[in-house]
Amino acid sequence: MRVSILGCGHVGLVTGACLAEIGHEIMCTDNDVTKMNILERGGLPIYEPGLSTVVDRNLRAQRLSFTSDLGETVRFADVIFICVGTPPLRNGDADLTAMDAAAKLIVTEARTSKLVIEKSTVPAQTGQRLKQALATYARHSISQFSFRVASNPEFLREGTAVFDFLHPERIVIGVEDEAAETQLRKIYLPILEQRFPCPLHDSICPQTPAPVLVVTDISSSELIKHACNTFLALKISYANLIADICEKKGANVDQVIEAMGLDPRIGSGFLRPGLGFGGFCLPKDIQAFTRMAERAGVDVALLHAIEGINRHRVESFMQKLHQALWVVKHKHVAVLGLSFKPDTDDIRFAPALELIRQILDAGGEVRAYDPQAMEKAKVELPTVKFCESAYEAAQEAEALIVATEWEEFRRLDWALIRETMSRPLILDGRNFLQADAMRALGFEYYGVGRPLEEPAREAIS
Ligand code: UGA
Repeated sequence: MRVSILGCGHVGLVTGACLAEIGHEIMCTDNDVTKMNILERGGLPIYEPGLSTVVDRNLRAQRLSFTSDLGETVRFADVIFICVGTPPLRNGDADLTAMDAAAKLIVTEARTSKLVIEKSTVPAQTGQRLKQALATYARHSISQFSFRVASNPEFLREGTAVFDFLHPERIVIGVEDEAAETQLRKIYLPILEQRFPCPLHDSICPQTPAPVLVVTDISSSELIKHACNTFLALKISYANLIADICEKKGANVDQVIEAMGLDPRIGSGFLRPGLGFGGFCLPKDIQAFTRMAERAGVDVALLHAIEGINRHRVESFMQKLHQALWVVKHKHVAVLGLSFKPDTDDIRFAPALELIRQILDAGGEVRAYDPQAMEKAKVELPTVKFCESAYEAAQEAEALIVATEWEEFRRLDWALIRETMSRPLILDGRNFLQADAMRALGFEYYGVGRPLEEPAREAIS
């Protein structure tokens, strides 16, 4: 099938590339000129594992194309995915300006009737507003074409987005007519049957079970996405609450969480305590969800608590740094990891950046290293020294913070790092390193919700 993609952010790019990979003909566009310049030259504006392979081979196979011509993209196909950004407004609401602009663009440029599919994360009932907007713009421009709407939220995680798209557990479609359901089923057929040579494994992926197709009305489909992200955030905040209690009571959060996760009703996913959740999805989605529910007259105390716990993670971690260093001013602190999570260069709402800002505010000097996110972080943090390696960042440091759990940090020569630091102090914001192993190497080690060594307990209490 021919499919058009409006918006070349994380979602649009992965959707476009993966739909091409399963055999469709895809044209993608974005109104961000810088982004389109990169894409039209064969580059990628984001780092996402596996994406460049998929993009390259589909560009070569001429199943995928990028153009800055918005009108051409609208006319390319009768099925259009809207993958534009829905960033948070100051009051927490989702900013739907780009959705509205996409509706206007589609009506203005269409020369045939279209099925318009919202993939962007939006509050429930946005589909209804989108339908009204399309109808209003069509009336004003005396368009003779019809514009139907469907919802198809994405559940991609940055860092594993290509895998998630090709091997989902479920595909949710919100439709209000049979034709839309048929078109969406046809688009996803190779994925629903898991019948395609998987680019990640270079062979058919026989182990992956077929996903469940969930067909709902449009508002339910929209709500499913917000409800899922909010529940994930709830699990993380709950784990962080448990970590705080463990710390006060001398218990070990690793053991508590492991035992909790063995109960299938709870599950072990998204219970890792630490600096809290960041990124462009969980923080903004929970805000938009809360605002929407609040306006609908629903008691949202629980949702406020999820956010409240998360907001205090960095602050309470800073207290640990203050307690360990006593005075932070003029001290050199090494920060490993800047992206909001590993395997991405995305620094939006990254706890690491907020932490660095607070260290700088306290007069500390930060030397940072991240495998992928330094180019983006340099723009945000001009006074930080960005290093070529974790070793360079750690040299002469009086404290080292693990802010993002990149796998390469596990394999560092920690004995060497210990020798080059001016004080061998580790604050592990992700409980990523083995506490015992670090202490055996001679580090003073503090994690989150992990028991302290005797002397450290005395120092901190
Ligand atoms: C999230 C959801 O997981 C996806 O299902 C969804 O499609 C996506 O948002 C979206 O709405 O587009 P993502 O933002 O890529 O995906 O990141 P997550 O893997 O959810 O991690 C979010 C944050 O939570 C990160 O800062 C991570 O470090 C933190 N986290 C995650 C924890 O602190 N503890 C955990 O146990 C898990």
